Amino acid sequence: MQILTVGNQKGGVGKSTFSVHLAFRAAELGYRVLLIDVDEGDLSEVFPEIEENDGTDYLKASHLFTGEIKGRQPRQVYEKIALIEADVDVLDVDDMPLETIEQPRLSLAQLNGNYDFCIIDTPPNLQRRMLGALVASHAVVSPFNISPFSFARMPKLQATIAGVKSQYNPNLNHLGFLANMVNSKSVNEVEALPELREAYGELIFDEAIIARACVATALAQGHAVWHRARSGNQRASAKEMRRACDAVLTRLGFKLMEPLS
Ligand SMILES: Nc1ncnc2c1ncn2[C@@H]1O[C@H](COP(=O)(O)OP(=O)(O)OP(=O)(O)O)[C@@H](O)[C@H]1O
Ligand SMILES: [Mg+2]
Repeated sequence: MQILTVGNQKGGVGKSTFSVHLAFRAAELGYRVLLIDVDEGDLSEVFPEIEENDGTDYLKASHLFTGEIKGRQPRQVYEKIALIEADVDVLDVDDMPLETIEQPRLSLAQLNGNYDFCIIDTPPNLQRRMLGALVASHAVVSPFNISPFSFARMPKLQATIAGVKSQYNPNLNHLGFLANMVNSKSVNEVEALPELREAYGELIFDEAIIARACVATALAQGHAVWHRARSGNQRASAKEMRRACDAVLTRLGFKLMEPLS
């Protein structure tokens, strides 16, 4: 199981939006996906429980940090996608001792055989929940938006990743920064990308995702933006989002062939 953190301490840059799209994309390529929310439950909004809970004790995000895995399973939310939801207790993790950040890696090792790809959506800070995700992961991808506030935080994020690499997880691979919510009508925003690429090189993905209302609308209906995309706008958005997902999957080493059946 390849484990990917979707992380950036800047809030509202599309971490959750991209995590869900990446899950849909990997699942439609035939991979078994485990999606984890260690933030505040946004992913449960995309995949609400349709049937009344029959009393199943689902595996929740806080259990990954306490190690209470036994007898619990993630909730199946879509074909080939299982979800570990954020619960109220996961909020306490940021107040727990620093050693707590090593537990998710051990917890996820117990689920290893059941999934091909695990995606961890993280909160907009660099505290225990984010660090626990980074310690457990093979790679991290960072959605960002074109704003001076976002740029100012990039070196801090890199320093955090470097710190986790040197102290806990030498194999952690920063796949890079993925521009999201780009305003295609703003010359400043469009021109910022090549400038960033000069500064950061290949750490800036070539694939950028344009801001389009249909992205949020699709997720509110529990689907990827490419699901039943009819309007020109949605088709364009579908193409951008898929390209971005495929670029990340390729950097992770996944094959992009659609399944035959
Ligand atoms: N490409 C896009 N086009 C239009 N709206 C978008 C796009 N990506 C994300 N959004 C919207 O922007 C808002 C923030 O996105 P999202 O919740 O995914 O960010 P986040 O980084 O997970 O935020 P947080 O840090 O609060 O967890 C949401 O309302 C989402 O619908
Ligand atoms: Mg989020």
